[in-house]
Amino acid sequence: MSSDAFLVVAFGLGYLLGSIPFGLILTKLAGTQDLRSIGSGNIGATNVLRTGRKGLAAATLICDMLKGTAAVLIANYFGGFNAAMLAALGAFLGHLFPVWLNFRGGKGVAVYIGVLIGMFPPAALVFCVLWLATAVTTRYSSLSALVASFITPIFLWWFGHPELASLFVVLTLLLFYMHRENIKRLQAGTEGRIGEK
Ligand code: G3P
Repeated sequence: MSSDAFLVVAFGLGYLLGSIPFGLILTKLAGTQDLRSIGSGNIGATNVLRTGRKGLAAATLICDMLKGTAAVLIANYFGGFNAAMLAALGAFLGHLFPVWLNFRGGKGVAVYIGVLIGMFPPAALVFCVLWLATAVTTRYSSLSALVASFITPIFLWWFGHPELASLFVVLTLLLFYMHRENIKRLQAGTEGRIGEK
């Protein structure tokens, strides 16, 4: 297979892995209410936590992260850096716009961390530290993700990874777009805090 053809395969592989809606699958298996009818209606770990099932929320976070990491590592192994970049983009878009759910997926925070782990683990660590620091201070999951993802491309650029910084500018813009309702609620002071139903 030519390297150009493999770039398309890498994007498709990323999209397919990213589009697996682990939050929905795990809560369905556990017999809880449909995630889309509770809390924010999102299919991510923060909304799974609103079911009161902390273990399920942790499992959703880990599975959503790992699908991004797996997409990047597989693509990198078979096709190198450019394939990994496309797999990362594919996984993120697959999670946000899964064909199985009429293109209405999650907001991308866990997958963002997962692809960062695959591409440049120190940046994933920085993301998690920023996320935790903001979460501990404000108890807003959405704000924590917005702050951490705003800083991440700057960190990548600062540490000499301009191509990765460009990719993560795109992912951050998409993440902000997916959080547009959260941003409105944060401005209005009506955003739910971590631990609230
Ligand atoms: O992971 C998404 C988080 O940043 C916000 O989730 O359910 O409060 O909209 P949610």
